[in-house]
Amino acid sequence: MKILGVETSCDDTGVALFCQKRGLLGHVIYSQIKEHKKYKGVVPEIASREHSNRIVECYIKLISSLSLTASDIDAVAYTNGPGLVGALMIGACFAHSFAMSRNIKKIGINHLEGHLFSCWLPNLTPKWPCLLLLVSGGHTALIYAKGINQYEVIGETLDDAAGEAFDKTAKLLGLPYPGGAHLSNLAKKGDSTAYNFTLPLIQQTGVNFSFSGLKSAAIRAWSESSKNEEDKSNLAASFEKTVVKSLIKTTSKALDITGCSNLMIAGGVSANEPLRKAAQQLCNKKGIDLILPNKEFCTDNAAMIAAAGSFKADLMNYEPAINIYPRWSISDVK
Ligand code: KG4
Ligand code: ZN
Repeated sequence: MKILGVETSCDDTGVALFCQKRGLLGHVIYSQIKEHKKYKGVVPEIASREHSNRIVECYIKLISSLSLTASDIDAVAYTNGPGLVGALMIGACFAHSFAMSRNIKKIGINHLEGHLFSCWLPNLTPKWPCLLLLVSGGHTALIYAKGINQYEVIGETLDDAAGEAFDKTAKLLGLPYPGGAHLSNLAKKGDSTAYNFTLPLIQQTGVNFSFSGLKSAAIRAWSESSKNEEDKSNLAASFEKTVVKSLIKTTSKALDITGCSNLMIAGGVSANEPLRKAAQQLCNKKGIDLILPNKEFCTDNAAMIAAAGSFKADLMNYEPAINIYPRWSISDVK
């Protein structure tokens, strides 16, 4: 079976084709960054319009690059939540129209479950149970995945997501949107001991995250500095070190609580090099396996949606109607 994946939950228009026998055959992403850059954030209305302008050309690009036709596709998996209402609707309408025209199955996939599957691309090699640290622009959570559809959110951010904190701090330093990768690049030149930021939630007994206090501390430190290039890179380095430390410390605790021996990290921030290195050190120390997505699958893409759809094709009910779920916890996935 070949499954077409469709992803339109935020500002990336993605389509992909996944073969149950051969794994990922190809994927195409149209990034809308340049449309949102001037507003320094995602504008939902622009995102919806861009998805509707781009999705057909992405599909044609994919299918022609593989020398296949619509008749080679056996099912369509699409993101039906969580995400921006209008953006999700474009992908859902495209998926349903395509499926109806071909009389094939439609499979709705939770975007966060898609990120879980991104770790197992380009082939499907799930290892259960696993602990997923999901770190993106919209979400930061620790998810204990005991098996398919058995997902428990054991910790999450109480305020900003990790990617959001990176983006806001990058904006403070005058870096382009989205700023995570730019800030991390700048941090390479800085002294990470220059600013001594307090680690968030040091007293907690649980495994939650919080980044808004750190963000405020960064704003204060920047306003009190002389705002030269050295201050900029030092602040970037100190900020990044604190975020990574907080993510790793809390993840380590969650690994102890669950006794899990497979750690996965997914979402845009999983592309962060210091985080990847620190996670590897943690897993070496604990003697457990670390599974990280290839860099191209860290940020939003349709390959992960097609892969999840492929895995679940025989397990789930097919979507009869165009329903989307803008707020949908991964724990409610069935
Ligand atoms: O998963 P994603 O594409 O979108 C959401 O579902 O939110 O993640 C985007 C986020 C942005 O906040 C971006 O700044 C961050 O991932 N990001 C990074 C890096 N690359 C992307 N943050 C830190 N370091 C990076 N190298
Ligand atoms: Zn995402």
